[in-house]
Amino acid sequence: MADGAQHHSVVKGFIFSAVFWLLVGLLVGLWIAAEMIFPSLNLTPWLSFGRLRVVHTNGLIYGFTLSGIFACSYYMLEKLTRTPIAFPRLARAHLYLFNAAVLLAAVSLFAGISTAKEYSELEWPFDVVVVVIWVMFSANVLGTLVKRREKQMYVSLWFLIATVVTVAVVYILNNLAMPVNLLKSYSAYAGVNDANVQWWFGHNAVASVFTFPILAMFYYFLPKSTGLPIYSHRLSIIAFWSLVFGYLWTGAHHLMLTPVPEWIQTVALAFSMFLIAPSWGSVINGYYTMNGNWEQMRTNYLTKFFILGITFYGLQTIQGPTQAIRALSGLFHYTEWVVGHVHMGTMGWVTMIISASLYFVVVKVYGRDVHSVKLVGVHFWLILVGQLLFSVSLWVAGIAQGAMWKATNADGSLTYTFLDSVASMVPYWKIRLAAGTIYFAGIVVFAYNLVRTARPKTAAA
Ligand code: HEM
Ligand code: HEM
Repeated sequence: MADGAQHHSVVKGFIFSAVFWLLVGLLVGLWIAAEMIFPSLNLTPWLSFGRLRVVHTNGLIYGFTLSGIFACSYYMLEKLTRTPIAFPRLARAHLYLFNAAVLLAAVSLFAGISTAKEYSELEWPFDVVVVVIWVMFSANVLGTLVKRREKQMYVSLWFLIATVVTVAVVYILNNLAMPVNLLKSYSAYAGVNDANVQWWFGHNAVASVFTFPILAMFYYFLPKSTGLPIYSHRLSIIAFWSLVFGYLWTGAHHLMLTPVPEWIQTVALAFSMFLIAPSWGSVINGYYTMNGNWEQMRTNYLTKFFILGITFYGLQTIQGPTQAIRALSGLFHYTEWVVGHVHMGTMGWVTMIISASLYFVVVKVYGRDVHSVKLVGVHFWLILVGQLLFSVSLWVAGIAQGAMWKATNADGSLTYTFLDSVASMVPYWKIRLAAGTIYFAGIVVFAYNLVRTARPKTAAA
């Protein structure tokens, strides 16, 4: 097979891996959302909430989001460097090894094999495989950059470099552990240090999976799909460097009002506030790019995904810093509010940008128009309505929950028992399940449209 075709087949492979893991991860999400309303659905240990929650988060963060990132990165790299991918065979091996690893990792999590560190649950043999996979991807990113024929480094390439470096550093440092056997290890850190390193990793995982590569896609595919150059290249580069600098210091905002030293919490709080500026640098760059061409929100079937996506990113990066303020953290931490924050980011920002980018890439690599522009619209509205209902209801739930935990009687005793607060959440969880179902329907439409674009009926006949 010619190298170009081989490379395209890797992009295609990652596109459909993304769609597959998205459907699986969401089905598990719906199941755990239903379990919170009907606990009898915890039918066996393999289907218990504790295990399935981790399958949901890992399946969507690593299975879906990373596949989308790999598909778009391999595509963007060639275009932005005007150079064929450095090691096409390695990219193909990457595709196979990655999917095999996600499958086995999901089985291990179903089986309850876990380090119990959030987003870092995989046991040590999987960590070794993750490092191998990451080296394969990094070799191609860096190798192609070294050979590049285009001298100017567009901002998307900087974001890809940041992704490659940050994931490598934070993943390895947080997973340092002492194995006791093939399926069990103990963290190299203990107590407060363990928590601090864990959330330094956790927040930078948000940065390097849910932010940097998604911004890389936004900066590349918004101009490409609208035919409008990005408003300011200089602003994008300033936003890039200040964002990567700021992110590294904020991990402890997940640990406000805990035994972590107070000065570390304060540094994290200050840098969380600082992050508003570079985050909004990208939001503003996106809006100004559309200046004078807003009619494309109606006429171009991809623009609304990019603009709504960057809008949710903008809201997310205002909400995030406010959650780091001690007084607000004291109210929101441990409540449904944070789950609302997470899902505005993932169902709004991340999925909107990845879906639109995948539509764009599928059309290019298959050399055909999208199967149905109308269905793209149906997909858009279903995921928008589903996501809004999901996050807004959980913010209301979070405020109610936090207020119930804090309410006291005149004699200082608590007004509500913990169980009262759990029972009061049930109506909100029902809304979440309905919202998730609407969103899932949108994703089914998306998957169908992509498959039909790749395999039109006439071609099959
Ligand atoms: C300026 C940017 C941001 C800041 C300062 C920020 C801040 C925060 C804070 C303080 C928390 C902890 C809440 C708590 O547990 O009390 C949190 C949680 C979280 N944020 Fe953000 N956020 C930002 C952007 C984002 C973005 C863009 C995403 C993308 C999806 C995101 C995803 C998450 C996730 C997944 C968690 C939950 C972590 C967990 O406890 O499991 N955040 N964020
Ligand atoms: C049909 C749509 C979805 C449903 C029904 C759903 C459901 C859930 C549920 C029930 C939880 C557990 C909340 C808890 O422990 O209280 C959760 C957590 C989580 N989900 Fe989803 N989810 C959906 C979409 C997504 C997507 C698209 C992503 C990522 C791309 C995602 C990433 C996460 C993450 C990172 C957490 C952990 C949040 C935290 O620790 O605060 N979810 N989800």
